[in-house]
Amino acid sequence: MMKILLLGSGGREHALAWKIAQSPKVERLFIAPGNAGTASVGVNVALKADDFEGIRRFVLDEGVDMVVVGPEDPLVKGIVDFFRADEALKEIPVIGPSKAGAQLEGSKDFAKGFMQRHHIPTAAYQTFDGTTVEEGCAFLATLQPPYVLKADGLCAGKGVLILPTLEEAQKTLADMLGIAAGDVPPSGGDRGATPMFGQASARVVIEEFLSGIECSVFVLTDGHDYKILPEAKDYKRIGEGDTGLNTGGMGSVSPVPFADKAWMQKVEERIIRPTVEGLAAEGLDYKGFIFFGLINCDGDPKVIEYNCRMGDPETETVMLRLKSDLVDLLEGVAEGNLASRSIAFDERAAVCVMLVSGGYPGKYEKGFPITGIDEVEGSVVFHAGTALNAEGQVVTAGGRVIAVSSYGKDKAEALQKSFAEAQKLHFTGKYFRRDIGQDL
Ligand code: AMP
Ligand code: GLY
Repeated sequence: MMKILLLGSGGREHALAWKIAQSPKVERLFIAPGNAGTASVGVNVALKADDFEGIRRFVLDEGVDMVVVGPEDPLVKGIVDFFRADEALKEIPVIGPSKAGAQLEGSKDFAKGFMQRHHIPTAAYQTFDGTTVEEGCAFLATLQPPYVLKADGLCAGKGVLILPTLEEAQKTLADMLGIAAGDVPPSGGDRGATPMFGQASARVVIEEFLSGIECSVFVLTDGHDYKILPEAKDYKRIGEGDTGLNTGGMGSVSPVPFADKAWMQKVEERIIRPTVEGLAAEGLDYKGFIFFGLINCDGDPKVIEYNCRMGDPETETVMLRLKSDLVDLLEGVAEGNLASRSIAFDERAAVCVMLVSGGYPGKYEKGFPITGIDEVEGSVVFHAGTALNAEGQVVTAGGRVIAVSSYGKDKAEALQKSFAEAQKLHFTGKYFRRDIGQDL
């Protein structure tokens, strides 16, 4: 029987906690810091997910047997290395890559170089910094519009800009790199301005624009073997018809119709296997989830991005479709015998519809009471940005508030269910997209 500590506080973490709590192998589940939803399946701990010293004390005091990391931040900051370097913690498994492995997400330039070294299909690219702005502008001029500019480092999902004209792309490149406007090209500019995303955009990856439908594929790896989890598609824009600003994700569906057996075979052969083998060949310690953000280009999968964690809101459907005991799989990762564990999927479709705060992803207010949660029947309510107030009432505490996840014999039935149950939940300013899954 295991004591597990899960780090994070979003819908992804509630979905992981919900699944972990169902395992007969779990004695106690802690979530740090968690939200109002995780408190219903485990014990919330008032620690930030990147408070390594606080986590250290808690793990030792409570005799935690395994740490599962939800978000990328602690991984990119090196929580795995922190555990491995500590006499008292070094035998305690942490599900997630080392700091070096987390560079797959933490540095877009690293990820692109890795894919190039291992012949993994992705968009053509080059990387530029403050000393090579002119070269960057010249490279942009060789590409077709629209232009894709990516901050190298972590930007909480905001670091990718897609510009319609060459002029805007060249200006944005200068802004991202922190070169004073108007100075490029041709003079190269002074280096007095602040990069748009701080250190994260001190280097910028410029890449070829790919068009196609996106799909998120997830694997768990122990560093040698891997298991492929159910795939999902997420919906990033705030508005129906994929319009308006980017969000953390407005909903997801699984399975994805075009990700059939033949397509997934290409994904496994061309992308998953070379990635896992590449990590091992480069000596990158990686025991955790790999998230492949893929795009289907005329039947051929290409990698848009890697993440070193599960997706949100994809996890809110992927966990519904994972039939096997997640903790058994995580144990396989920790022990390096993942190949001996079995994985099975639920044949039903799963969808999630995200209810968000009015104004999100711009300015929005928090603290509104959420009612109707107890009236939801037959769907799973995953909390994202919720908290318990002083009176013990569930209130809004973020832009993305609640994911309503449902099964159906097909996508249409699952969506109908989620939309119906979403009507029962109330909070001031509630908004959700009614077209999730319609494009597939
Ligand atoms: P990322 O943060 O890398 O996932 O990028 C955010 C979003 O930008 C992706 O989900 C895509 O929709 C889009 N995107 C990123 N790279 C490209 C590309 N090379 N071509 C087309 N769209 C892209
Ligand atoms: N759903 C995309 C992400 O988690 O980054």
